[in-house]
Amino acid sequence: MKKIFKNEKETLVFAEKFAKTLHGGEVVALVGELGAGKTVFTRGLARGLGIKERIQSPTFLLMKIYKVSPSTGLPRRQAGSGHKIKTLVHVDAYRLSGAGELVGIGILDWFGRADAVTVIEWADKVQELLRGEKVIKIKMELGEGEEERKIEIIGN
Ligand SMILES: Nc1ncnc2c1ncn2[C@@H]1O[C@H](COP(=O)(O)OP(=O)(O)O)[C@@H](O)[C@H]1O
Ligand SMILES: [Mg+2]
Repeated sequence: MKKIFKNEKETLVFAEKFAKTLHGGEVVALVGELGAGKTVFTRGLARGLGIKERIQSPTFLLMKIYKVSPSTGLPRRQAGSGHKIKTLVHVDAYRLSGAGELVGIGILDWFGRADAVTVIEWADKVQELLRGEKVIKIKMELGEGEEERKIEIIGN
C-alpha cells in the first residue's frame, strides 16, 4: 500500500513507527531517486530504534555503524520497545562500483544477525547481495509539490 506523507516530519514519524515493527536480522532496502527521502527515513528509523546519534548521509562513507544507546531510565517504549537490536548498519550504495565493494568492507558479517538491522539506500544497485536475506523493500517517490513523498512497503 502506498502512503502519502505531506512533509519531512510525517516521514520521520512513520519511519520511527516502522522501526518498532523490526525484530532484528532485517535488511531494509530503500529504493528511490535522489531527494526521495531515503536518508530522512533512515533518520526516523534510527530514532525509533533508540539511537541518539544523528544519522548522516553516508554517501561518502559507504557504510556507517550506529549503536543503539542503552536505555537510560526512559520508558521501554520510548527507549526502543525492548527489542534486541543493538546495531544499525547504514549503507549508501549510490557511489558503489559494485556489490563486491560492499562485500569487501564486510557487509555480509552484518546480514542476518539477530541483533542488527541493515538499511541500504539505493538497494537496487546491490540486489544480488540481498537474495536469501530477510529483506523489506521500501519504495520512495517524490509527490506533488516540494514536500509530498509517497512511500510503499513491498513485503518482507
Ligand atoms: N515528505 C518528506 N519526506 C521526506 N523528506 C522530505 C519530505 N518533504 C521534503 N523533504 C526533504 O527532501 C529531502 C530528502 O533528502 P534525503 O532524505 O537526503 O533523500 P535521499 O536520501 O533519498 O536522497 C530532505 O531535504 C527533506 O527535508
Ligand atoms: Mg540519502
